[in-house]
Amino acid sequence: MKPVAEHCLRNQAPIAEALHPYLEAGGRWLELGSGTGQHGVFIAGREPQVQWQLSDVAEAHAGLLAWQSDAGLPNLPPPWVLDVTRDEPPPRDFDGVFTANTLHFVGGPVVDSLLCCAAGALVESGWFAAYGPFNREGQYTSAGNAALDGWLRGRDPDSGLRDEAEVIGWAADHHLAFVTAQDMPANNRLLIFTKKG
Ligand SMILES: C[S@@+](CC[C@H](N)C(=O)[O-])C[C@H]1O[C@@H](n2cnc3c(N)ncnc32)[C@H](O)[C@@H]1O
Repeated sequence: MKPVAEHCLRNQAPIAEALHPYLEAGGRWLELGSGTGQHGVFIAGREPQVQWQLSDVAEAHAGLLAWQSDAGLPNLPPPWVLDVTRDEPPPRDFDGVFTANTLHFVGGPVVDSLLCCAAGALVESGWFAAYGPFNREGQYTSAGNAALDGWLRGRDPDSGLRDEAEVIGWAADHHLAFVTAQDMPANNRLLIFTKKG
């Protein structure tokens, strides 16, 4: 049976809508930490001109494969097993990299590996889009985000909500230049970067 993440069902349409301007030109996109794969399946179904590559660690692969094969979309190839901390880096031929709800979920060194992996996979001027909850100027943006942060840090003290400005600085260290940020439903944000060099 396919695993279902309820938050994906709630947020997939606004995410796809916000990403559309970056996708309409087509090309190849890589998703890091796809989880169930619901975002990728939804986006690939709406954007047939885009080739969407799902990926996640081995533990997530069975669920991801179930969503991908059930979708039967020609622009959604089988998912890759890709642990950003240790697997062979993807080839540098992606026009975009997307990741949702990963930067707060993993520890600091994994965030760095993820940014490194994203930057390494992108062609010059390719897009990096990071969706999820972020703090702004050191502050939580909702009580729900504060509660999520407490839960994450209880599980792994090195994880937790990142400050948006901090992420922008870390991304710059990987030649990912900040372009814009957009408010999303449920106190989430979509951060857009472009690869320089
Ligand atoms: C909170 S889940 C988000 C899943 C999905 N993107 C979503 O929005 O529902 C975080 C994801 O990060 C993935 N992840 C954790 N460590 C990772 C690593 N080292 N490399 C790649 N993905 C990783 C997990 O397997 C998980 O699928």
